[in-house]
Amino acid sequence: MCGIVGGIIKGDIGSLLIDSLELLEYRGYDSAGITLMTDQSELNTIKTTGKINLLKQKYLQSNTKSGSIGIAHTRWATHGSPHETNAHPICSDDIISMVHNGIIENANELKESLSEQYTFMSETDSEVIAHLFRANIDQYKDPVLALRHTSLKLDGSYATAILSRNHPHKLFFSNFHSPLVIAITDHGHYIASDHLALLHLSNQFIYLKPHQHGYITLNSIHIFGQDGRPINPKIEVVNIVPPTIKRKPSEHFMLKEIYEQPNVIKQQIEQHTTHWNPLIEEQLHHIKHILIIGCGSSYNAGLTARYWIEACSQVSVQVEIASELRYRQAYHKTDTLIITLSQSGETADTISAFASLKKSNPQLTSICITNNNHSTLTRMSDFTIITPAGPEVGVASTKAHLSALFCLYQLAAKLNHAQAGQDTLDDPTQLHINLKQTLALHGNIKQCALQISQYNHVLFIGRHLCYPTVIEASLKLKEVSYIHAEAYAGGELKHGPLALIDANVVTIALLAKDHLYDKMISNINEIIARNGPVFIYTNTHTDPFENNALVNTIRIPSCQNDLLPFIAAVALQLLAYETALARGCHIDQPRNLAKCVTVE
Ligand code: AGP
Repeated sequence: MCGIVGGIIKGDIGSLLIDSLELLEYRGYDSAGITLMTDQSELNTIKTTGKINLLKQKYLQSNTKSGSIGIAHTRWATHGSPHETNAHPICSDDIISMVHNGIIENANELKESLSEQYTFMSETDSEVIAHLFRANIDQYKDPVLALRHTSLKLDGSYATAILSRNHPHKLFFSNFHSPLVIAITDHGHYIASDHLALLHLSNQFIYLKPHQHGYITLNSIHIFGQDGRPINPKIEVVNIVPPTIKRKPSEHFMLKEIYEQPNVIKQQIEQHTTHWNPLIEEQLHHIKHILIIGCGSSYNAGLTARYWIEACSQVSVQVEIASELRYRQAYHKTDTLIITLSQSGETADTISAFASLKKSNPQLTSICITNNNHSTLTRMSDFTIITPAGPEVGVASTKAHLSALFCLYQLAAKLNHAQAGQDTLDDPTQLHINLKQTLALHGNIKQCALQISQYNHVLFIGRHLCYPTVIEASLKLKEVSYIHAEAYAGGELKHGPLALIDANVVTIALLAKDHLYDKMISNINEIIARNGPVFIYTNTHTDPFENNALVNTIRIPSCQNDLLPFIAAVALQLLAYETALARGCHIDQPRNLAKCVTVE
């Protein structure tokens, strides 16, 4: 989603900002822009639709490349089309230039009151911030006070970086429910919506908290709370090597990340005893209910975990889509453990749902499972479990999803141990080897994908642990290949979806050798009887459909049933990838989607 970088340094900042912007590319965007302030305090803005390399070309061709203070942005359209006029920075004449992440919910109302005085040039909600800040500077004569009053008027979520030509040595910022981080270097200060954009420049960061605002200069940092009082910021030293988010030129990040999964899981297996905070394990002795919250693939991981936890403990599990839970009036028992799942740790829906839950149930303990140690969710939670997946660039979550799933598996096993003194879940210590064996099936899966890519409708079916696994597989397929895909529990077919079945709808069935095997076979027969082609992914050796022309069977490595969600996830990720490749889709940055969904 939108990305912000800015800074004030000794020397020219333009190309540094564009380099940093490139590191935010993976989040997804449709236009980009930069404003540099010249030594004469003029604001020079360059914007473009499309990719950052176009912005780079425009910048290199421009006559105004110098400036030691600047802001830059990648925009993912919410209000207004992905047009150059709507790209950020957004200006209030040549006085203010501003970049914004988030959504201003009362933009229309503010626009009404500001439009007598100012001409609105874009269709964005963001433009109100630029004009409002300018109006407030005129009124309060003090830019910090003006910024505070601007923030107080905004409803919704925002992170901003703002330049004012009348305050040439300051870069202003404000934030509420949209991340913003300041980096300290020996040559000046930077600001960004994600430390990934600045890790190559610094390892000292200040992570801003909601409702903070202020400004950076070349030599100083000034942060204020909502009440206007100065805040002494906590500087965190981040000892992580700037991630290599590079790949071979021919390869997609999604494929690279799929192939990294055996190593990620191996690492988690090895860290099983050392990596977990003993205080988390202590919690597991007492809890009676677990509430899992997430969106998309993270939510799907929660759905799978429910089966494991229910099978090995007396703990009840509720799994909720964050954007729905947020607006429900649900009652939660006092001995409930909240688990938020989010690879980015910055998903606005999950953050809002969790924030309102915490507000109404302050006594509940919370654990966040995330791939981002410095995220908003991490800061909000009592405990954090970091997935060791490393940076994930492909918009479709693969290794971060699998890693979170494995954390949940470990959590279920620890719960089982803490509450019943037993280890009833299947031993996962060889899982990474099974995953490697799954990757070895790539060629077979590709053949299957070539056929699937011919269809416009795909129905996934599964039962028990295979059901949430196919929900995730269907999300992955539609996300990257744009094929309409739906997932149903096998038992639900006769309650509606069977009406869809004919030769034009292909079914992908995930078949486990478990207690529901015979029932799944019946479900597959129901489809074949209606002339529906079926691809079966299975860990069984028997094949009741051996000579059936409508059925193709793909044998995934044989494994214990508790571990099938991992094996099947990887096989079905490869299927989604190869199907998307066959259809010529933008695999790493699917249309309309973003890696980090920071707006509700
Ligand atoms: C997964 O492939 C998707 N890109 C998407 O559903 C994602 O899982 C969802 O947006 C939640 O993201 P999060 O894990 O960062 O919270």
